[in-house]
Amino acid sequence: MPVTSPAAPPSAAVPPAPHRSDALPQDFGALLGQDPEIAGILLAERDRQAGTLQLIAAENFTSPAVLAALGSPLANKYAEGYPGARHHGGCEQADAAERIAVRRATTLFGAEHANVQPHSGSSAVLAAYAALLRPGDTVLAMGLPYGGHLTHGAPGNFSGRWFDFVGYGVDPDTGLIDYPRLRALARARRPKAIVCGSISYPRHPDHALFREIADEVGAYLIVDAAHPMGLIAGGAAPNPVPYADVVCATTHKVLRGPRGGMILCGADLAERIDRAVFPFTQGGAQMHTVAAKAVAFGEAATPAYTLYVHQVVAHARVLAAGLQAEGFEVTTGGTDTHIVVADPAPLGVDGRTARERLAAAGMVLDTCALPYGGARGIRLGTAAVTTQGMDDRDMARIAALFGAAVREPGDVGPIAAEVRALAERNPPYPG
Ligand SMILES: Cc1ncc(COP(=O)(O)O)c(C=O)c1O
Repeated sequence: MPVTSPAAPPSAAVPPAPHRSDALPQDFGALLGQDPEIAGILLAERDRQAGTLQLIAAENFTSPAVLAALGSPLANKYAEGYPGARHHGGCEQADAAERIAVRRATTLFGAEHANVQPHSGSSAVLAAYAALLRPGDTVLAMGLPYGGHLTHGAPGNFSGRWFDFVGYGVDPDTGLIDYPRLRALARARRPKAIVCGSISYPRHPDHALFREIADEVGAYLIVDAAHPMGLIAGGAAPNPVPYADVVCATTHKVLRGPRGGMILCGADLAERIDRAVFPFTQGGAQMHTVAAKAVAFGEAATPAYTLYVHQVVAHARVLAAGLQAEGFEVTTGGTDTHIVVADPAPLGVDGRTARERLAAAGMVLDTCALPYGGARGIRLGTAAVTTQGMDDRDMARIAALFGAAVREPGDVGPIAAEVRALAERNPPYPG
C-alpha cells in the first residue's frame, strides 16, 4: 500500500508568494543589441511560458535568485575535483559554494553525504550504477511501460545496453506497484541492485518494503527520487534516505532549482560515489549550477517552501478529481504527489491527440505510457502553476478547460483565450 504523507499539510488557504520579477537578472536589452536573433528567441520563450499553462510534471519556475546564480561569474570557472582537492587554481569561491551546497543538501535530506556535481538526473543515475555495479549485472527496476525512466533499462540508453534490466510493474486493477511480483522477481533473478523510482507513478513507494526485499536478496537499493525530491524536502513525501543505499535526484522539477542532478548516500559509500561522478563519468563541475543548487536548497529549507509543496500536492488532487469529473480515467484513482496521469480514452481520443488538442488551447503537458494495455495517456504536474500562485479554484477550472479542449477541438478559440487570461493573471515573475 502507498505510504501517506508524513507531515500534515499546512493550511492551503494562504498561497505562497510568487517570484518577484524586479530581481530577475537577465539583461535582454544588452543581448538584443548584440544578438537580436538569440534575444528574440529568449523573449519569445519568456512570452510562451507566461502566456500558456506549464503543466509538464518535470518543469517549474526557478526563483530569480537561482537564475542569478546561473548567470553569475562562476559560469566561467573550471573546477575539476572536489573542494580542497581541485585540478585547477583559483577555486576558493568555487570550493566555498560547493561546501555550502553539500552542507545544505545533507541537512535538508538528513543524509551523511551529498554529491552535488552531477550535470543531470541521468548523470546521477549513471554515477550511482558506476559506483555499485559492473557491466552485465542484473538490475530490477520499474518497467518502462509502467513509468520507468530511460536510465532504468531502456534499450537505447546506456543502462539497457550495459546492464541486464528486469522490469517490475503495477497491478493492472489498482495501478499500484505489485510488491508480491516485485519480491518474486527479486528472488528469481537475484539482482545486484533494485531501483525504486519512476517518471509517472503518482503514489508514494513503500521504501521500507523495497529495503526489506533488497536485503532479502542481498541487493543495493537505489532510489531515483528525481520527481518527488522537492516534495521530500518540504515534508510532503516520505524521505527515502533512511532506507536507500543511494538516492539519486534532479535539482529541477518540484525542487525548483537549476537543471541538474545530485546524489545522497551514507558515509560508507561516499568515496565510491564521489569517484564515480568525478573522474569516472564527468569532468569539471558546472560551478554556477552548483551555486544555484545551494540557493535552491536554501529556499527549500524555508517554511514558505514547505507550504508550497503541500499546495502542489493539494492542487494535484483537485486537478485529478476534476479530470475524473470530466470523464478522464485517472490512474490509481488520484495522486499523493505533484503528478496526475490520466487516460482520455473515455472521451474518445488517445493521449497523443489529447496532448495536441490541449496544446492548441495553450495547456502544455506530456503523454506517457499507461500502466495497462500499451496505450498512451497524459501526464501533468502542478509544480509550475503552484509557483505562479494559482489556487484550488484555478485547478478546478483547468480541469474543466481540459474536458472542453479535448471534447470540442473545433471551438478552441474561447478556451485558448481563457487559458491565456488565467496564465496572465498569475505571471511566473510578476511585475
Ligand atoms: C525518475 C527519473 N530519473 C532520471 C531522470 C533524468 O533526469 P535528466 O532529464 O535531468 O537527465 C528523470 C527526468 O525526468 C526522471 O524522472
